[in-house]
Amino acid sequence: MKLLKNISMLYRVPAEGGHDEVDPIADAVVAWEGDTIRFAGPAGELPAEFADADSFDAGGRCVVPGLIDCHTHLCFGGWRGDEFAARLEGASYQDIQAAGGGINSTVNATRAASEEELADKAGNALADMARLGVTTVEAKSGYGLNRDDEIKQLEVYRRLNESQALEIVPTFLGAHLVPVEYRDRRDDYVDLLCNDIIPEIAERNLARFCDVFIEDNAFTLAEGRRILESAKSRGLGLKIHADQLSAGGGAGLAAELGAVSAEHLEYASEQDIAAMASAGTVAVSLPIASLYLREPFLPARTWIEAGARVAVATDFNPGSAPSYHLHLAMTLAAVHQRMSPNEVLRGVTTHAARAVGLHASHGSLLPGYRADLAVIDAPDINHWLYHFRPNACEATLKNGNWIAGGFRSRN
Ligand code: NIG
Ligand code: FE
Repeated sequence: MKLLKNISMLYRVPAEGGHDEVDPIADAVVAWEGDTIRFAGPAGELPAEFADADSFDAGGRCVVPGLIDCHTHLCFGGWRGDEFAARLEGASYQDIQAAGGGINSTVNATRAASEEELADKAGNALADMARLGVTTVEAKSGYGLNRDDEIKQLEVYRRLNESQALEIVPTFLGAHLVPVEYRDRRDDYVDLLCNDIIPEIAERNLARFCDVFIEDNAFTLAEGRRILESAKSRGLGLKIHADQLSAGGGAGLAAELGAVSAEHLEYASEQDIAAMASAGTVAVSLPIASLYLREPFLPARTWIEAGARVAVATDFNPGSAPSYHLHLAMTLAAVHQRMSPNEVLRGVTTHAARAVGLHASHGSLLPGYRADLAVIDAPDINHWLYHFRPNACEATLKNGNWIAGGFRSRN
């Protein structure tokens, strides 16, 4: 049994409740055994049986559930700083892609990289994310766009799940773009996905979700439906990159097919917002992508007022969102999406857990949940989001073990 004492404010964030209800407890303690929370509440109510446990002192800081980055493109070769500079000169993201750059250029670099190189690079990012308080990361393929290179990315995630502390939830995004070699026969690529690659990935348990980028220049609504129906029939959960650069109806499709989430959504229609809210599909907002592409930010008030759950994630990738700093996404969500700090906290804990199908075990600090938490060097979360620092996270606990910060040596 282990104990974390002297917590100024503990946010238990129960899975159910209003978007801004985070259940803050002043002067709190958390006790865990193995990888499971046994007690989280006021110091004065700690059961006597836990009092002698090996203890750590939070030093009057606040504690939140381990952060969940529920949308990343973690594994990729190369970078695209030249495109960033071109966009600053006026080129659009879509123009660059149509000219063979963008996702295509990362596909070339990812195909050229070995599994070891990709695992090293993604592993470095994960180590940084752990220091920021992140404990679970959804990670997509989508820069291989053929059987071997898509599976290579998913094998990187499998290997990282075994070799480092953060938990990775793998998503197959073979439908990120029609690869150049299929440009004149796109139906053949959709056939390949539906008839060969998706069945193999499901059979080998290489991914938990299947995602499709529905957008002009990517996949149509009809293609997306076919691909997702094939994935669903093989037991994969569904996600959609929807309505990011134009209104394409992806959010409505996500609701109709029972997807766990739809992501981006800046241009989603009022009707599709209502459909997602009533279907319980999580709206994953990605404010770092809006920042870098100078696209509108998600109008989170409209979504929350419609009854939707809004998650917040980084979208870490080498093009539209070249940062895995979840705290940056959180502060942007507060300032530009007009979410309260409480709403943002739900967006990176319970709602993010739901977006990766883990809300029964992750994202809350209540007895029975996973012992994943972050000690934040701030008196409360208002201060945390307001005072943006290189890293306000003092220590990170994953599955009951300190994986970053000052308590690490005492495990
Ligand atoms: O989520 N929208 C599509 N995919 C990524 C960008 C990928 C890239 O530019 O490499 C996104 O923004
Ligand atoms: Fe994305």
